[in-house]
Parts: sequence; C-alpha cells; structure tokens
Amino acid sequence: MFKSLLWLSEVTSTQAILKEGRLRPWTLVVSNKQTSGRGRLGRVWYSIEGGLYLSFSLSAGFKDERSSPLVVANAVADYLKSLGFMPAIKWVNDVYLQGKKVCGVLVEKLREQLIVGIGINLNQESFPQDLEAVSLKMILGKTFEKVDFLLGLMDHLQKNLERLMREGFSTFRKSIEDRLLFKGAEVILYTPEPVVGILEGLEEDGSLMLLTQEGLKSFQVGELTLRPL
Ligand code: BTN
Repeated sequence: MFKSLLWLSEVTSTQAILKEGRLRPWTLVVSNKQTSGRGRLGRVWYSIEGGLYLSFSLSAGFKDERSSPLVVANAVADYLKSLGFMPAIKWVNDVYLQGKKVCGVLVEKLREQLIVGIGINLNQESFPQDLEAVSLKMILGKTFEKVDFLLGLMDHLQKNLERLMREGFSTFRKSIEDRLLFKGAEVILYTPEPVVGILEGLEEDGSLMLLTQEGLKSFQVGELTLRPL
C-alpha cells in the first residue's frame, strides 16, 4: 500500500505538502518538525523536534470513509498496545495515554483524495501545561527510534485501512467501543451547540451515540469533553 517515503527535517506542515497534490496516493511524508502544524478546527498543532509528524493520501470514495479518522486512531492504538501501552481513543480522532493526548489525527478531503495527517508525541520531554499532552518518552523514560517506530506504525495503518476499505466500519465497532475514552460517562458534545448525554458507544458507521434527555441520538461530528461534576 505505502509506495514511497519522503522524510524531511523541517516543513511548514506535512499536510500542506500533500495538499499541493504533486505526490501520488500512499506516498508518506514525514517530518521531524513543523513550523506551521495544524490540527482539527484550524487549531495549531505543537510540532517541536521530538514528535513524529506524518501525512499521506488515499483515494476517496470507499464505504464508510467518514470513519477514517477513527480507524487511523485505532491503528495507532493497536500499535501502542503492541508496545505494551494501554491506549484509549477519544472520539473521533485522538489517542490518549494516562488521561493525556499522545496522538492526534486529521483527515481532510481534497478533490478525490483523503489527506491523512498524524501527529505522535514520541520523544518530547515536556509540553505547555494547557495542552494536557504526554509523550511516550515521558511515560517510559526511554527515547524511541523514529525509523523503527514509523515502520511498525505503517504496518498497523496499512492493516486497519485495508480492512476498512474491504469490509467497512462495522467490523471495528466493538473493539473501538471497548477502548473509547469516557464510555459510560456523562459528556458534553459541542456540535458546536453543546449536547449533554451519557456516552453509550458507536453506531455501525462510527457515529457517536449519546443517551440524552430526549433519548438516544447519534452524531457524526463534534468535540467531546467530560461533563464537569
Ligand atoms: C488534532 O488533534 O487536531 C489533529 C492533529 C494532526 C496533526 C498532524 S501532524 C502531521 C500533519 N501535519 C499537520 O499540520 N497536521 C497533521
């Protein structure tokens, strides 16, 4: 599936390079640092040396492609689990360890391509406090070899994405539900209107299911937080 690899020491954003449209699908662009890293909703993605920043594109048009961010987060979680971590997935695109964000996924549709971006906190020593982020090094106290880490990650990305394209999202539903952050808790989903409910799980297409005062409702987009007591 992955066809070639372009590894740069610094870029504005690996996502921006893919969006220029000059690279064929499944070319992986990796950078050690980004000067203009972007997250969902136009947010800044803190991209100092130490993290791993990568993007690639896929041909769009497959069943359940809307669930790609969740499936990519699941691939990262599968890989972290194989390394001995206990990851959780915060719907719809984040991976958490010990209650803090370790990875963010951004999928953007451009013409007939899905541009998939992944930021992983690998070897950073610390983060600004307001980010509530953690790196693998901060947890294990050891430095991760980026090339080795990337090769393992590519394997899990490939397996998860091929399965999504072949079988659709429904075969992922149960296993992703089992690792959903806030499952069974009272949450607020900003859609951007705030909706309060108990996080029940996922629909067959990856939509989020909340038990609200008006009954069960499902959502395709939104920003999730735990409801403060
Ligand atoms: C999020 O959590 O909001 C998603 C963050 C996605 C960050 C990655 S890092 C590689 C790629 N390049 C970017 O500018 N963004 C994505």
